[in-house]
Amino acid sequence: MRRAKISIIGAGNVGATCAHWAAAKELGDIVLLDIQNKEKPELHMPKGKALDLFCCAPIERFDSRVTGTFDYKDIENSDVVVVTAGIPRKPGMSRDDLIQTNVGIVKNVCEQIKKYAPNSHIIVVSNPLDAMVYTAWKVTGFPTSRIMGQAGALDVARFRAFIAMELGVSVEDISALLLGGHGDDMVPLPRLTSVHGIPLTDLMPAEKIAACVERAKVGGGEIVKLMGTSAYYAPASGTIQMVEAIVKDKKRIIPTAAYCEDEFGIAKGQKGKGYFVGVPALLGSGGVEKIITFKMTPDEQKLMDESVGHVKDLVKTVTNLFPELA
Ligand code: NAI
Ligand code: 2OP
Repeated sequence: MRRAKISIIGAGNVGATCAHWAAAKELGDIVLLDIQNKEKPELHMPKGKALDLFCCAPIERFDSRVTGTFDYKDIENSDVVVVTAGIPRKPGMSRDDLIQTNVGIVKNVCEQIKKYAPNSHIIVVSNPLDAMVYTAWKVTGFPTSRIMGQAGALDVARFRAFIAMELGVSVEDISALLLGGHGDDMVPLPRLTSVHGIPLTDLMPAEKIAACVERAKVGGGEIVKLMGTSAYYAPASGTIQMVEAIVKDKKRIIPTAAYCEDEFGIAKGQKGKGYFVGVPALLGSGGVEKIITFKMTPDEQKLMDESVGHVKDLVKTVTNLFPELA
């Protein structure tokens, strides 16, 4: 049987860490692609990282092949392409400050994916996430089931981690849900969060829950302040959770930036004019096979509408920069 092929565009912190998790889980053969460093053309960073990672194989016992390249021809026949190309934020920057630079990069990358891996599923990671997924969709024209963004898998993992730390219980026993865009106005849902089935609201006082919600919302910024650049272990882990769900056809329900129209009232009745926003999505070999909807309370819906409003503003910035993406 043919092994899955996973290509990762951008072999920086997030991209290389995605390769690491994917190899360790033996999810398939991995291609790491980046651009040549013009100041040091003698270097080949993706090839170096791929070789270093493959040399772990005898110790970690994975049979995934790992290759590094500057050439998009090497991504041919990919099952999944992960897009991490772009600049990360520095202290004091919001994800939105990256849009000018990253929309051009993601546009260029997706033109190449369309050419060389037209049947792939694309998972976008570059920020500002929700606008970059929209860009990937417009550039490739792929069916919306094959275009998605990673944010919720990370954000909900942070939320679960903070709750587990606060309660002193295993992270495995925390089940949580989080919706909305990948901004500081994302929407963690304490009402739908439980500790081994017991509602969180029965176990934690409201002010402690509010503190966990707040910490999850600004969790990315907390790490940027500590490291001077953005996080990569958990972002890559969340991304590879999605890759695994697709290549193993697991039918996992993972918060995913997925294309929505009527869902959660995001673009009600606006056929073909929807947005990519974090929602619970069933991921399997068909990509986003289903979006799971449910009734929100009026307060939750208000928060969701605010977050979606922010995503719509970001998309407007994209289409102002590149009117052909409207
Ligand atoms: P990084 O700077 O370590 O790596 C980015 C890589 O992209 C660099 O190696 C760079 O050479 C490469 N690149 C730039 N232009 C390219 C092009 N045209 N084609 C191919 N490769 C290109 O940055 P890091 O930390 O890996 O972050 C990458 C992106 O992911 C950033 O936009 C960051 O904001 C975003 N991010 C998103 C998260 C999420 O949850 N959605 C979480 C963490 C980061
Ligand atoms: C994060 O949430 C910056 O999006 C990145 O860590």
